[in-house]
Amino acid sequence: MSYMERTLIIVKPEGVQRGLIGNVLARFEQRGLTIVGLKLIQITPELAENHYGVHKGKPFYAGLVKHITSGPVVVGVLEGPRAISVVRTTMGATNASEALPGTIRGDYALEIGFNIIHGSDGPETAKQEINLFFKPEELLDYTLPTSKWVYEQ
Ligand code: RTP
Ligand code: MG
Repeated sequence: MSYMERTLIIVKPEGVQRGLIGNVLARFEQRGLTIVGLKLIQITPELAENHYGVHKGKPFYAGLVKHITSGPVVVGVLEGPRAISVVRTTMGATNASEALPGTIRGDYALEIGFNIIHGSDGPETAKQEINLFFKPEELLDYTLPTSKWVYEQ
């Protein structure tokens, strides 16, 4: 099914420290997405520079790498119909002060640098980011029994 996609999410250090792992994952589970990979890790500076390489040279880059490596994060791979854009709209605007209520950032955050959640922004980045954080054997293929009431195809 070509509309089925996989995307990477990260519950950032502030999300873990504030006890929001379960709330964030619940949003995606309740939306109907399937968690096919999940782990608690501390991101190394090397991994952070790889992941955020696209932002190298921007004024917020050094702070971003420092912050994402500052404590444990939860990384996950979510699967479902149009998962990449569905996850992005469920997250809300990057600047949390502008994120709509009902979105993760709009409900749990106020600042751009403490916006709780990362999600891949397109098919190519999703593929790269999943490969960066997960080995193939860490991703599980299975079908939720509820999916036949959530996925039309
Ligand atoms: P993310 O990559 O974390 O999913 O967020 P995003 O696509 O919505 O935002 P992006 O432009 O990729 O920026 C990555 C993260 O860098 C921080 N940021 N700070 N101070 C600033 O101007 C600024 N701009 C971006 C945010 O934490 C953002 O999520
Ligand atoms: Mg981004």
